[in-house]
Amino acid sequence: MTDRFIPLVDQRLATAGSTIPSPLEAPAGLLSDTFARPLQDLRISVTDRCNFRCVYCMPKAVFGKDYAFMPHSALLSFEEITRIARIFVAHGVGKIRLTGGEPLLRKDIERLIAMLSALRTPDGQPLDLTLTTNGSLLARKAQALKDAGLRRVTVSLDALDDQVFQRMNDVDFPVADVLHGIETAHKVGLGPIKINMVVKGGMNDHEILPMARHFKGSPFILRFIEYMDVGSSNGWKMDEVVPSAEIVRRIDAEMPLEAIDPNYNGETAERWRYRDGGGEIGLISSVTRAFCRDCTRARLSTEGKLYTCLFATGGHDLRALLREGRNDEEIATVIAHVWRARGDRYSEMRTANTEGLRQDGRKVEMSYIGG
Ligand code: GTP
Ligand code: 5AD
Ligand code: SF4
Ligand code: SF4
Repeated sequence: MTDRFIPLVDQRLATAGSTIPSPLEAPAGLLSDTFARPLQDLRISVTDRCNFRCVYCMPKAVFGKDYAFMPHSALLSFEEITRIARIFVAHGVGKIRLTGGEPLLRKDIERLIAMLSALRTPDGQPLDLTLTTNGSLLARKAQALKDAGLRRVTVSLDALDDQVFQRMNDVDFPVADVLHGIETAHKVGLGPIKINMVVKGGMNDHEILPMARHFKGSPFILRFIEYMDVGSSNGWKMDEVVPSAEIVRRIDAEMPLEAIDPNYNGETAERWRYRDGGGEIGLISSVTRAFCRDCTRARLSTEGKLYTCLFATGGHDLRALLREGRNDEEIATVIAHVWRARGDRYSEMRTANTEGLRQDGRKVEMSYIGG
C-alpha cells in the first residue's frame, strides 16, 4: 500500500499545489489501515495554548514566557474544522473529541460544538461528541457547552491535595475550582464524566488512594494514566512510570477490585470494579500494556495537520488542501490514502524498548496534536 501513498508538501513553503492521488474516491464509511484497524475516532486540537503548565505535558522550562504559540491565522477556523470533520464522519468516524491545549480557552468554542453536533453518521446517528478539559473554566462554561450539543466531558485531575495539585499544574491553580467545575458539569448533564489522573512516580503517586477513595461510589469514573514519553519536552524516564498493575495492587489491598469487560473494542482503559458495588475505575496502560493493536484514532492538530499516531514526528497538511481550494472529494481521497498506509504502533514498540524510542526524530507535543 505504501507505494500508492503520495506524500504532501507543506504549502506554507511550496508554491505549487498539493498532489492528489487518483482516482478520486467518495467516502464509503469504512477505511482500514495496514493492520486492519478501522478509522473510528477523530481527536481535534483546537488550541495549542493552556493556562496550566503540567510538569508531564507543558513544563515551564520549555513553555515559558517566550514560547511561541501559534498565531491565530495559523489555526483552523471553525468552518474549516467542521468541513474536515464532516469528511471524516463520511469515512466512518463516529466519535469526536475536542482537545488542546485547553480547548475551553478557544474563543466561542460553543459555536464549534454546535456546528459539530449537527453532523450525522452515514446511517443518521449523532456523534459521540466529547471534550477533554483541565476543568479550570468548566463551572463557567458547562451550561453553554451542554446547550450547544456537547454530549459529555472528561476532566484531567492529578491530585486532591492542593499542594500536590499545584505542584503538578505549576500555576498555583486550586483544586477546589476544578472539583466545582466537575460538579457543575454533572449537574447540567455532561455525563458520564471521566476523571483522568496522570500518575508520575515520586510526584503524585501517593494521591492514588485518596483519589480512589474520593471518587468511589460517586457518579464519576476515575482513570489512572501511566506517564508517557509523549512529545520532546517532559524529560520522560521509565522509572517515573507507576505501572497500572501496581496501581491496581495498591487500591485492591484496601478496596477489593475485580476486572470487567471493555465497553467497546479498542477502549484505552482496562476496567475494574469495586467488589462492594462502589462503581468502577479505569487503567490506561500506554507504557506497560500498549493498546496500539486496536488503535482507531486519527488526530487533527491545531493548524490542520493529520497525525495517525500520538507519537508521530510529522503530519499531513490538510489545511493546505482547504486553503488552496480543493473540493471534498479530493480531501477525502487524501485522507483515505493516509489511513490505508498507516502502520503506526509506537507504544507497542516502546514496550519492547523501555528507554523510549525516537530520540533522533522530534516528536510533536501533546498540547499541539491533542491528548
Ligand atoms: P473515552 O471515549 O471516554 O473512552 O476516552 P478515551 O480514553 O478514548 O480518551 P481520553 O482522552 O480520555 O484518553 C485518556 C488518555 O489516554 C489520554 O490523555 C492519553 O494519555 C491516553 N491516550 C488516549 N489515546 C491514546 C492513544 O491513541 N495512544 C496512547 N499511547 N495514549 C492514548
Ligand atoms: N503522559 C500521559 N498522559 C498525558 N497527557 C498529557 N501529557 C501526558 C503524558 N506525558 C494527557 C493527560 C491529560 C491530557 C490533557 O493529556 O491525560 O489529562
Ligand atoms: Fe494543559 Fe492538559 Fe497539558 Fe496540563 S495536561 S498542560 S492541562 S493541556
Ligand atoms: Fe495509537 Fe500510536 Fe497510541 Fe499506539 S502509540 S495507541 S498507534 S496513537
